[in-house]
Amino acid sequence: MSTNGEIIRTSYAALLRDDLDGALANFASDIEWTYPEGMGDGLGGTKKGHAEVRAFLVRAQAVFGELRAVPEQFLESGGQVVVFGVHRIRGAATGTVPFVHSWQLADGRVTHFVDYHDTAAVRHIVEGEISPHRWMMRTQADYVRVRTVHLAADLGLADLLADGPRGADELARDTATEPELLYRLLRTLGGFGIVTEVEPGRFALTELGAYLRTDHPQSVQAMMATQELFSKAFAEAGYSLRTGETAFERAYGLPLFTYLRQNPDKGATFDAAMSRVSQQEIGFLLGSYDFGRARHIVDVGGGDATVLSAVLAAHPQATGVVFEQPHVLHATQERISAAGLTARCTAVGGDFFEEVPPGGDLYLLKRIIHDWPDEQAVKIFRAIRRAMNPDGRLLVLEDVVPEGDAPHFSKVLDFTMLVVLGGRERTRQEHAALLAEAGLRLTGMTDCAEMISILEAVPDDSASQPVGGAR
Ligand SMILES: C[S@@+](CC[C@H](N)C(=O)[O-])C[C@H]1O[C@@H](n2cnc3c(N)ncnc32)[C@H](O)[C@@H]1O
Repeated sequence: MSTNGEIIRTSYAALLRDDLDGALANFASDIEWTYPEGMGDGLGGTKKGHAEVRAFLVRAQAVFGELRAVPEQFLESGGQVVVFGVHRIRGAATGTVPFVHSWQLADGRVTHFVDYHDTAAVRHIVEGEISPHRWMMRTQADYVRVRTVHLAADLGLADLLADGPRGADELARDTATEPELLYRLLRTLGGFGIVTEVEPGRFALTELGAYLRTDHPQSVQAMMATQELFSKAFAEAGYSLRTGETAFERAYGLPLFTYLRQNPDKGATFDAAMSRVSQQEIGFLLGSYDFGRARHIVDVGGGDATVLSAVLAAHPQATGVVFEQPHVLHATQERISAAGLTARCTAVGGDFFEEVPPGGDLYLLKRIIHDWPDEQAVKIFRAIRRAMNPDGRLLVLEDVVPEGDAPHFSKVLDFTMLVVLGGRERTRQEHAALLAEAGLRLTGMTDCAEMISILEAVPDDSASQPVGGAR
């Protein structure tokens, strides 16, 4: 009978001569096969069972041109074999990257395999230096990648693949599409690492594609669903640049929030997306700001109460109000009830350019100011300044634009705001200046790389503008 070490040596030998069946014969039928995240092209993550591992091995060869795992040193203990070696890789360049492999065996079959290596080093070899021309050629057709991923989200393909691989023809039945044409979409998505073709015509969701599932904790499905609406506006982006007017209005004939009010299904999709993004930010907000001092919190433009209900649930000393457009309040009230907060939280309808509920010692404005040009932003700040207690505080939660040309999501959102709403993302100094115009002083900012920042402001009678009734 072979030792575990011998079984692993024969597996490497089989893989080195491209004998996939020979290698798979050593693996349990429910083997878990894990490569590190960051491999790109959907290769990272855990594959389960022979079909997925086979598809991984075939695909890795295709992506890398050549990928050979050359073992150098074996350590064996009980059911585990640890192997040190190098990946020999041929991509745009050739090179080697060290690996550590952990193999777990039971009854002479591999049950778990984990690869550890520096994925950035691998990518460098695979991609080499991308020439400016190649970068531009990829970019000029990038809308194909974007649009096909949106289509996958619209069709709900990720949820349909949640329980395992399925054939393109079955998926076509469930999505009312043409099997051959859906196959072509799936093949394209395979090239982007969203799905993988585990056998001809059958596709599995990758670790990357799983983010399109509605039940993924960091699901992007709801945000994807809003993009169909925005893509038509982006087709008119040049109009915004020439005129400063919103391309959305040119494309749809109405400002975004009026359009959403008049098209309740689109409005519900938009509100669900905002709520989903907020859910993913709540941990950061609660961990970064001390809400323990707040007695009465007013969330201005608080959507469906996702944020305020989480804050109140964590801080039983506080009461709160969500202030929203009247047509949104149904969803707001539903969430407040579902959270069991009706005794401590109310939903009030109105227009934040006119007035907001008084008496709060903490006001929240989350992703509101970026929707508007400076003049309207100051109007909202002034309405809050008039309503707040003298010892009150205001939190402005926005993606603050950093200095310099480092990549930052705020810059992507900034251009989106121009096209969709005529709004903008702002630097810390720009926020401070607008707050000052409304009689508010910026006291601090909690920054978070690539995510929303928390700007805190307090009333300041020495600020430049009288508050009075001015709007
Ligand atoms: C970008 S969403 C942000 C929602 C929420 N604060 C969040 O972060 O998820 C902007 C919100 O402002 C609300 N809104 C727009 N115009 C308004 C107005 N004039 N008065 C009150 N709320 C308004 C919209 O209904 C929408 O819920």
